[in-house]
Amino acid sequence: MISVAFIGAGAVNFGGGDGPWDHATRLERIDGVKVIAIVDPLTQKAEGVLEKRWNSAHGSMYKECKVYPSIAVMLESVKPDAAFIGTPPFFRGSMEHGNVAGLVIDLYTDMNTL
Ligand SMILES: NC(=O)c1ccc[n+]([C@@H]2O[C@H](COP(=O)([O-])OP(=O)(O)OC[C@H]3O[C@@H](n4cnc5c(N)ncnc54)[C@H](O)[C@@H]3O)[C@@H](O)[C@H]2O)c1
Repeated sequence: MISVAFIGAGAVNFGGGDGPWDHATRLERIDGVKVIAIVDPLTQKAEGVLEKRWNSAHGSMYKECKVYPSIAVMLESVKPDAAFIGTPPFFRGSMEHGNVAGLVIDLYTDMNTL
């Protein structure tokens, strides 16, 4: 089973009203995947997104999923195998820890120390 995080609870990850083209809807067509985290500083928005998913036909895929306000906080609890990045460009470009590129570094570093 591959564990996945969504970084950003917005339209590109969870849909925006003009058709099921978003990452989550496409991922839900694949077996052997579970979503364990949604990261978004707007935690209430992310909780709303997660609740909709729990109440959907694919709810079982999200049964372990929790909302986190940042990547750093998520990594204190869970380490996903893969992440879908759906944040504004500013948050995914640099190599500093805490942004999206930093997630890759954090995961890789952690894997090397296991
Ligand atoms: N929507 C599209 O059709 C589309 C298509 C291709 C690419 N994109 C790219 O995806 C990006 C996101 O698009 P969207 O439509 O989902 O935007 P959106 O505004 O609907 O959602 C972006 C989400 O990212 C969250 N966010 C901001 N900073 C964050 C951080 N540091 N960590 C985690 N979450 C954070 C915001 O709170 C927001 O909920 C766009 O900036 C664009 O570069 C979007």
